This record gives sequence, structure tokens and C-alpha cells, in this order.
Amino acid sequence: MLSNKAAGPAKRTSLHGHWSSRMAFILAVTGSAVGLGNIWKFPYVAGQNGGGAFVLVYLACVAIIGMPVMMSEILLGRRGRRNPVATMALLGEEEGKSRNWQWVGGMGVLAGILILSYYSVIGGWTLAYVFKSGMGEFFGADATRVTTIRDGFIGSWALLGSFHTVFMGLTVYVVARGVERGLEQAVRFMVPALLLLMLALLGYSINSGHFGAGLEFMFSPDFSKLTWDSVLAAMGQAFFTLSIGMGAVMAYGAYLPEETSITGSATAVAIADTTIAILAGLVIFPLVFANGLDPADGPGLVFVTLPLAFGQMPGGVFFSTLFFILLSFAAWTSAISLMEPAVAWLVEHRNRTRAQAAVIMGLLIWTMGVGTVLSFNVLSEFKFLKGTIFDNLDHLTINIMLPLGGVLITVFAGWVLCRNSTADELGGAGTIYKLWRVLARYVAPIGILFVFLKAVGLLPDLA
Ligand code: PFF
Repeated sequence: MLSNKAAGPAKRTSLHGHWSSRMAFILAVTGSAVGLGNIWKFPYVAGQNGGGAFVLVYLACVAIIGMPVMMSEILLGRRGRRNPVATMALLGEEEGKSRNWQWVGGMGVLAGILILSYYSVIGGWTLAYVFKSGMGEFFGADATRVTTIRDGFIGSWALLGSFHTVFMGLTVYVVARGVERGLEQAVRFMVPALLLLMLALLGYSINSGHFGAGLEFMFSPDFSKLTWDSVLAAMGQAFFTLSIGMGAVMAYGAYLPEETSITGSATAVAIADTTIAILAGLVIFPLVFANGLDPADGPGLVFVTLPLAFGQMPGGVFFSTLFFILLSFAAWTSAISLMEPAVAWLVEHRNRTRAQAAVIMGLLIWTMGVGTVLSFNVLSEFKFLKGTIFDNLDHLTINIMLPLGGVLITVFAGWVLCRNSTADELGGAGTIYKLWRVLARYVAPIGILFVFLKAVGLLPDLA
């Protein structure tokens, strides 16, 4: 059987180099996981879904669904040591099954491209807010003023487009430099910086906000507020925030040193990602309550309510600048991981250098991002299916492609790969392995399929 480690996979190396240590890998995947999803999205989705009970379900989803999917992606990546398309083709063949599993990898690469096309626009928006905050534009501003500033910014395709260009440029720059000199260097600095900034902001929030109210909102579950829809929102959020379902973690797993524990690394990442999301909530909600704002305000929570809250407070200019720097860092390290599968694919299949591949992909994704830029201004009335171009991209990727990718990836790892292969990667057939296998074969696919069917409207309302 080819699954014997000595027979092949152990000898495989990645064309793109390897992480220099287990810590580098954990930082990289944490950098990918921690992003706009944690800081921009988690608080407002939690806010819209009643707070505490949602947070509990979200935590359960991270543990029961997120963990096995993430472990599956890492183990596939390390075993294949190629981009997600080639890895799935190779492993499918090696296990005596079909090469057609490569299409799952292909869907992941495509999902990364599509997500990055709009993620970069929002990333650019956060960059712009670093400058706006730093120049004191929000100082003393009331709600009307903050909203006018936001509408003025996103209403201008030239401004939004310029920052999208800068953000994309920064992403291409890091990816072009390669695994160790680019990705690893970036995360080594940014992920710890992110945690420090978050702690500084937490201190600020404890002092200046209604910390007790924030704490209570997030941690006292009111199950009467929990609907099936919010359970599903929690599951989707767990998915997006952990960067799973599209091969980004698989691509990073391809550069993982042989001896590193996959279970240990995935656990560390899940804990770090969850901690940052909770911290973001603890920073944001006390400020929201202190200013009499609505926690269920939606996507505007970060871009409208926070500048407003900071604008009214002592030290607000400094701390809001810090906040948007933090958000830009978080978005940047996630954007890098969204691009990596596509770049690795171009390098391996089209014989490009890494720099060429990064620039080609960057141009392609930048061009697609123009659709999202225009969704906020010139084409804001151009609506079809789920709304604007941006709304459709968001829906297609998060509600359809990621869950579908997640099911297929866990089914591949749990059912297509033989027991020896997976046990080999996960460090033997002990209790943890058995638990992973039950979760990967049954619990995760069924759970994710439920989200998926619900998202595409194929499941009747149960509540
Ligand atoms: N996890 C990122 C966030 O929370 O913002 C988003 C993301 C990055 C999703 C990379 C998927 C991915 F492959």
C-alpha cells in the first residue's frame, strides 16, 4: 500500500519551501484565520443574533466542525505537498481512487480568487480609515457626520478603487517574496502585533466603555433568542473565520515540516482565532453600549459606530487609528492566504516564477475587484439574484462554495484516504485520531451539508 510513510509521502518536499518551524506555521494559519471575519463580522453577527447564545453555538461549531475540517485540510496538504488541485489529484490517484478530486481543489482556488476580489476592497476600506482616523476626521463627529464620511468614501469609485489597489499591491508584494521571506516574515511581525494592539484596545474599552454591559451581552446566553437561522449563522461564521473549505489551509499545510503535530497546531489556531474574535467583541460592545448604539447595527458596526464612539472619547484619535491599523493587518495576513493557492497553482502548472505568478493573479483579482468597488457607487442600483455584484460574490463564496468545499474535503480525508494514510499523518490511531475520524466522516459533513442546503433554500424551515 502506498500509504506507508516510507514509501513516498515522507520524502515529498514542497517546491515552494517550508515553514521554518511549527510556530511559523501556527502564526501563518492564525494570520489567515484572524481577519475581517473576526473583527468586522463576528461582533455584528453576534449582535444581530442575540449575543450570548450565539457565541456558545459558534464555539461549539468551531470545536465540532471547524477542527476536523481544518485538520483534514492540513493533513491533505502535508501529504500531497502541492497546491490544492495537484494535491487532491495526486492523493486520489495514490489511494487508487479518482484524480477527479482535483476539481474540489480547483473550486477552492477559484473561491480564493473570488473572495479576495471583494476582501481586498474591504481591506482597502480599512486602510483608508487608518488615515481618516489619524488625521482626526472623526474627532468629535456625530452620527450624521460619521455616516456622511463613510458614504462619501464608498460613494467615490476612485477613492475606494485606489485603496483597493494599494491593498492588492501589498498582498502581491508579500506573496511574491515566497513562503519564508514573504509569508513567514509578515506573520511573525503582524500576528503578535495584532494581539498586542487588541490588548491595548481592550484596556481602553475597559476604562472608557460599559464593560459590564458588554460582558453580559456576550456571555449571558438567552436561548429564547436562538433560532435555527442563528445556529446556521454561527456555523457559517465558524467556517469563514477559520479560513476552511477552500484550500487555503491545505496550501499552508503543504509547507508544514514532517514531524509537526497537526492536531496540536489546529488546536492552537482555533484557540487563537476564537480568542481574537471574543476580544474583538469585548472591545466593541462596551464602546457600543457606552455610546447608546445598537449592537445589531450590521456591517456598519465597525465603520460607523466605532469611529463615532472613538470620536467622542479622550484619546479617541489615537485609539481609533490603532484599531484600523489592527484591522488592516488582520485583513492583510488573511488576503495573503487567499492568494497562495492560486499562486502555487500557477507556479506548479504554468511554470511561472513566484513573482510572475503573484503579479498575474494580482492583476486578475484586482480587475475582478472593480466589480465590488462599483457595487458601492456607480452600480449600486444594478441588482440581480442576491443584490449587487458584491452581494452575489459574498453569497456565492461563503454560502455555497465554502460549505461545499468543506464537505468534499472532509469526505475526501475521511472516506477516500485509507485509515493508514490519515493515521500516519495524525500521529497514530489513538483516541484523538478516532475522534477526528468520527467527526470527519459523519458529524462535519452532515453538519455542513445542513448549512449548505439551508443556504441554497433546499431545506424547509424547522423553527
Ligand atoms: N478567515 C478570514 C477572516 O476571518 O477574515 C477570511 C478568510 C481567509 C476566509 C482565508 C477564507 C480563507 F481562505
